[in-house]
Amino acid sequence: MQEILSVKDLRKYFIKKGFTGTDKETVRVADGVSFSIKDAETFVLAGESGSGKTTIARIILGALEQDAGTITFLGQEITSQADSLKKIRLGCQMVHQDPYASINPRMTILDIVKESLEIHNIGNKEERNHIALHALSQVKLEPVEDIASKYPHMLSGGQRQRVAIARAIVTNPKLVIADEPVSMLDVSVRIGILELIKELQEKHGISFLYITHDLSTAGYIGHRIAILYRGKIVETGPINEVLSTPHHPYTQALLDSIAEPDPNNLHSDRKIRINESSGVETYQGCRFMAKCPYAIEKCKQEPELEKISDARQVACFVRIN
Ligand SMILES: Nc1ncnc2c1ncn2[C@@H]1O[C@H](COP(=O)(O)OP(=O)(O)OP(=O)(O)O)[C@@H](O)[C@H]1O
Ligand SMILES: [Mg+2]
Repeated sequence: MQEILSVKDLRKYFIKKGFTGTDKETVRVADGVSFSIKDAETFVLAGESGSGKTTIARIILGALEQDAGTITFLGQEITSQADSLKKIRLGCQMVHQDPYASINPRMTILDIVKESLEIHNIGNKEERNHIALHALSQVKLEPVEDIASKYPHMLSGGQRQRVAIARAIVTNPKLVIADEPVSMLDVSVRIGILELIKELQEKHGISFLYITHDLSTAGYIGHRIAILYRGKIVETGPINEVLSTPHHPYTQALLDSIAEPDPNNLHSDRKIRINESSGVETYQGCRFMAKCPYAIEKCKQEPELEKISDARQVACFVRIN
């Protein structure tokens, strides 16, 4: 299978505002992150809020520069050079978390969907209208002509996210980065959007980088997954295997957080609170050690991602399950 995107040893650190950059004052969004996405594959990048998922997406799209590491899209390394940026901006599109914030409220739906055709100089006016209307029908916004003349506020949240998807696919991209595309939508319309993503993939062979903190939607849509924790991928592999038998305690913690929404239950046994600082976190040794109920002496050293079967890798000395 052809490799569409390859991210290698990506590093990006942010220094917290007003600080100088000691260990505690630095947020390591990516600290040697590597993964690749194949043709017509949905690759999930999962991690808690603030773990750096959107930042990694922005780096891939050339909107932000990494400290180190490479991004290769369709065999060409993305640098700040205009030609490689142009290639990724045409071939890789993004669907954002908030469909309302990501589309211009003063433009009609047709103009919103047409915009990237104009930016990339694709077709004449008539052809652009035709391509944009076709994209709207692909995302099942019917009747198309009627929807096309409306403004974003006249649509529901789910319909607006369909517009965002139409806008993303209108240039015929190889890769779409979907950054929490259903997290702000009503539960009742989420499944329709996920089904649409699956259908577009089957029809057009689009690859997706699906970014989320929600492993239940990830499991529904993904083929492979990488679990990101404080800048490191701690576990990766085929999604069914990772979610059914997680080997890293952090993956288990993310799974527990969807299984037990009642926060009072999280104290019991070996449950870990996601997104809550333990106050003693460092980047020394295993980054999860301060929260990990399975930690042993050896975890003071940093575990590297290790291959444990053909397709799975885990960075943990203990390995649960
Ligand atoms: N330009 C910036 N300067 C400094 N810190 C930043 C900057 N952009 C992001 N950060 C910090 O980097 C971390 C990662 O942010 P990011 O938005 O990538 O996380 P995320 O995983 O997408 O979170 P969420 O799930 O909430 O969307 C956060 O701690 C954020 O405050
Ligand atoms: Mg984000």
